[in-house]
Amino acid sequence: MSSIRNIVILTGAGVSAESGIDTFRDANDGRGGLWEQHRVEDVATPEAFARDPDLVLRFYDMRREAIQTKAPNAAHRALAKLDAEWEGELLIVTQNVDDLHERAGAKRVLHMHGEHLNAWCTACDARPRWTGPLIDRPACPECGKAALRPDIVWFGEMPYRMEEIFAALEQADLFVSIGTSGAVYPAAGFVRNARELGIETLELNLEPSQGTAWFDEARHGPATELVPAWVEQVLER
Ligand code: NAD
Ligand code: APR
Repeated sequence: MSSIRNIVILTGAGVSAESGIDTFRDANDGRGGLWEQHRVEDVATPEAFARDPDLVLRFYDMRREAIQTKAPNAAHRALAKLDAEWEGELLIVTQNVDDLHERAGAKRVLHMHGEHLNAWCTACDARPRWTGPLIDRPACPECGKAALRPDIVWFGEMPYRMEEIFAALEQADLFVSIGTSGAVYPAAGFVRNARELGIETLELNLEPSQGTAWFDEARHGPATELVPAWVEQVLER
């Protein structure tokens, strides 16, 4: 642990689960998480948006409103503490579209699937901060056109800032995956990229993910227990 200078952390829905935000595929709770209320094809694809924009806008308006009622948990706070105190390079790459990492105080956060609290203007490409509904087709603050959509990466679209993520991985000594099922690429492949680069890998997840076998070490349990314990360990190294 003492040779660790640069860390890349990948987080998924599991890091926000204990803040009360549905995960997507959680086998544990039997509810199946977010997608059970809506088939993924009905809301999180460009085709769905073209076919039924009102359904998609209403779905994300509901999620955007709900997310603002949630609070960061001990896992978000521990990662923010690490971010503040870690002298080496550190990047929190999140698949999550909530802002709980930032609200806990983390600064070095990269949202590869976009952010619920941004809109994206398909006319002028602006990405204004957006906390209200989009169903009423509000005008883009930049160009005035009613062309705003959720700034969420949908299935079939390219995740954001991949070059930055791979550049950070190439400099990393440690890759830690927290609260993700390893079900969705390219994030699910980062552990293999890390191994090819000779980087130490650690999984912190409620249960074994689909990629568990690729990790040097895997600890299973709730993020609010595992993450604070791991951060203390790293900071005391
Ligand atoms: P992918 O091929 O990397 O893997 C996701 C695939 O899983 C999709 O094709 C999807 O159709 C499939 N899938 C089937 N059932 C699913 C379910 N219940 N929940 C989730 N996925 C299910 O994804 P992609 O097509 O390359 O999409 C590009 C990116 O868009 C992915 O990285 C995905 O994570 C992202 N995305 C983000 C959100 C979000 O709300 N943040 C929503 C959808 C997709
Ligand atoms: N602590 C730690 N891990 C948890 C907890 C918890 N309290 N609760 C659930 N988990 C784990 C589950 O065991 C599961 O492995 O978090 C993981 C959540 O997996 P998913 O629901 O698949 O979420 P995620 O991996 O982030 O999905 C990736 O797929 O649908 C797309 O773009 C969407 O970003 C999402 C991507």
